[in-house]
Amino acid sequence: MKLSHFEALQPVCPVCRTERQREDSRLVIGTIERRSDTTIEEGLLLCASADCQREYPIIDGIPLIIPHLRSWLSTNIAQINARDDLGAITESLLTDCCGPGSAFDTTRQHVSSYAWDHYAEFDPLEPIREDPPGLVVRLLDQCLQLAGSFPKGPLLDVGCGAGRTSFALAERSSDLVLGIDLHYAMLRIAARVLSTGTVRYTRRRVGIVYDRREFPAAFPNSDQVDFWACDANSLPFRDKQFAAVIGLNVLDCANSPLSFLQSVARVTAAGGKVILACPYDWSAAATPIEHWLGGHSQRCESRGATEPVLRSLLTSGAHPCAIQGLHLIAEADNLPWHVRLHDRSTMQYSVHAIVAKVEDAE
Ligand SMILES: C[S@@+](CC[C@H](N)C(=O)[O-])C[C@H]1O[C@@H](n2cnc3c(N)ncnc32)[C@H](O)[C@@H]1O
Repeated sequence: MKLSHFEALQPVCPVCRTERQREDSRLVIGTIERRSDTTIEEGLLLCASADCQREYPIIDGIPLIIPHLRSWLSTNIAQINARDDLGAITESLLTDCCGPGSAFDTTRQHVSSYAWDHYAEFDPLEPIREDPPGLVVRLLDQCLQLAGSFPKGPLLDVGCGAGRTSFALAERSSDLVLGIDLHYAMLRIAARVLSTGTVRYTRRRVGIVYDRREFPAAFPNSDQVDFWACDANSLPFRDKQFAAVIGLNVLDCANSPLSFLQSVARVTAAGGKVILACPYDWSAAATPIEHWLGGHSQRCESRGATEPVLRSLLTSGAHPCAIQGLHLIAEADNLPWHVRLHDRSTMQYSVHAIVAKVEDAE
């Protein structure tokens, strides 16, 4: 965790904020176990409120500022304890034994897909193909063009995955960028790129066969970037802290897309923008069906489409749950994005992008 980001963003306790409606419960640095001049590699953040005093660990330079830490940690402990010092042969035997569909294999598949799109363009061993990696950066540029200018101030990259768009945002702005996600294994890829300028991941070839990849990838202005584990639905920030919030391909992964929209609107500054792009590939594994925005009932007015529901949520008075103070100002459709599964399988998506603006201050 970079001290510059911690000091500039002054995170608050997500439990005090969401469960006790207290905005003033700042987090302070408790214990430091490992640090450099500019970062804390390992330690504890504490809620300064005497009646809370919750602890949030910093592991591998990534602070875990997550409200239901116990349940998150018990589900994700394998990702935290994952080793990256084993040889490729041993790792392959572990994959064979755990088998397809195991938590180990599922995590490797996710990391393989996103690390590939984010960084494989820098991999000297990556074969040339018709649909090369890097589409998420192209999508980001299309969204930024659609958004136009926004006020000066920090930028929040929600659901940053392996982190490439956070680096790309820092290349295109002089402001602080914070990438947040709940997937620790992906954040670890991002944090390694940040601290060492090296990408290290296993790239799925086929079935449960993966190849180890390691190559340099350094980005300009990376001192402006940091990665934290946070829940987009329970952001540990005060109101109106970010000049823009960018969320690419994340809305259909949120447990509650409506709370996601309320949450990102809350932390966006007056005159700031919320920029979202999504293929609306809803899945009950990520989002309970009742929470899908459209997409689950062809008998309702929107006939199952997400776009009109989202438009009405971002238009004052058009929906009973319209997001207060956030107005749709631009849209684009059919933007290409893809998720590579293995050598012979890539899922192609057609993405819808929206830009919404937070009302200017009076
Ligand atoms: C489909 S991936 C997209 C990653 C990246 N933005 C991209 O386009 O390549 C969605 C990401 O959102 C993250 N995510 C889902 N729900 C989240 C939440 N509530 N808070 C933070 N991140 C979340 C997932 O862990 C995952 O990394």
